[in-house]
Amino acid sequence: MTIDYAEKIPNNVDLASNKTLQRALEQWQPGFLGWWGEMGPDGTASTDVYLRTAVSVEPKGWAHFDYVKMQDYRWGIFLAPADAERKVNFGEHKGEPAWQEVPGEYRANLRRLIVTQGDTEPASVEQQRHLGLTCPSLYDLRNLFQVNVEEGRHLWAMVYLLHAYFGRDGREEAEALLERRSGDADNPRILGAFNERTPDWLSFFMFTYFTDRDGKYQLCSLAESGFDPLARTTRFMLTEEAHHMFVGESGVGRIIQRTCEAMAEHRMDDPPKIRAQGLIDLPTLQRYLNFHFSVTMDLFGADVSSNAATFYSTGLKGRFDETKIDDDHLLAGATYPVFEVHDGRLAVVQAPALNALNEKLRDDYVKDAVAGIERWNKIIDKCGVAFRLRAPHKAFNRKIGPLASVRVDPEGNVVSETDWAQRHASWLPSETDRAFVASLMGRVAERGKFANWIAPPSRGINNQPVDYEYVRFN
Ligand SMILES: [Fe+2]
Ligand SMILES: [Fe+2]
Repeated sequence: MTIDYAEKIPNNVDLASNKTLQRALEQWQPGFLGWWGEMGPDGTASTDVYLRTAVSVEPKGWAHFDYVKMQDYRWGIFLAPADAERKVNFGEHKGEPAWQEVPGEYRANLRRLIVTQGDTEPASVEQQRHLGLTCPSLYDLRNLFQVNVEEGRHLWAMVYLLHAYFGRDGREEAEALLERRSGDADNPRILGAFNERTPDWLSFFMFTYFTDRDGKYQLCSLAESGFDPLARTTRFMLTEEAHHMFVGESGVGRIIQRTCEAMAEHRMDDPPKIRAQGLIDLPTLQRYLNFHFSVTMDLFGADVSSNAATFYSTGLKGRFDETKIDDDHLLAGATYPVFEVHDGRLAVVQAPALNALNEKLRDDYVKDAVAGIERWNKIIDKCGVAFRLRAPHKAFNRKIGPLASVRVDPEGNVVSETDWAQRHASWLPSETDRAFVASLMGRVAERGKFANWIAPPSRGINNQPVDYEYVRFN
């Protein structure tokens, strides 16, 4: 189905035939645009950006590329195609036809899942609001803006569900999504990582690699939902999410490449010397990696969680690749290993698999995240540099769950409070690290030019050359 861009709210849900819903969303729209103007990318009202827009939900060729002013971006409502035969595939309702309406008894839980997901979308736009002022190139600036408008569209996706299926309290939640602010002391965003700052481009690339990947895993589990509109909405969001993770992986990869090429060329491996060249040394990259990895670990929630069990048993939120898993999809009597703290040590115990679903999703995520770290290591190897980046232990620097009660080093050893105080600066970015990275951030907005600390990409966007004019300032 091709999407009609003559509509005020482009959509593939036949909004025109539901006037009440259409009016409600049209009333929400000015609030959204007000929020975008206030909290979206700073100082971009007259900037033309080479952006992709969804024009269909078919896997091949859904994207259309053209210059757009971001406030005129065609934010719309797109659901992946319906499958009339689709069933609830797990939990107590396994085998029933997938729900087209919200089951009354699950209304509050479903709303909570949708609001929690929805809240992360505007949060990341707020976190990234000032990054455009220090872009390393037009290519990177365009990628930042692409991520920003798509997070805006993801907010639309969740607001559509709230308006269409949750009546008055859904509309109130949709308003509240525009009122909370990342990092605000009085009215913060719901999840911790979304209240952290994204002050520089190294943080941005780490965020899109690690934290947008959490988004992928959350969306994948919601795409299994027995509530079909949620499943179809998140299924389409995943096609956009892939680009966000690409921005992160390639961004960090290009920093590594730039640093390692210089290390090989000048035969230097001393971080102060590397910094003196205006490059980001690998130990600093490792500390940023440790920070973003550990903050993202917490997003998966408590290791053992009765909410997670309820969401699964009632068919609201499945596992990653639920239908590809060969088991009973009920998890009756099954167990799953989790960490507990015994006498100040980490111990692995078996928890009921139903209660350990957050941990299972976290482990699925870790496998995926580690694979990309290995691809970064290949770049290092190719330059002949002896250094390996690695994911810290999943108990490192945790703020949520039982692991929050102990100090754990990146290798997974419990350490004393004194040890932590003495050594954490070698594990997590220090103020000095952050100030150094900040000192490299200067705006490079000349066609085909790149900041000194990052290599150009191997190819451009949508088959355009690397030196294409991806952003035009007017
Ligand atoms: Fe998103
Ligand atoms: Fe994203």
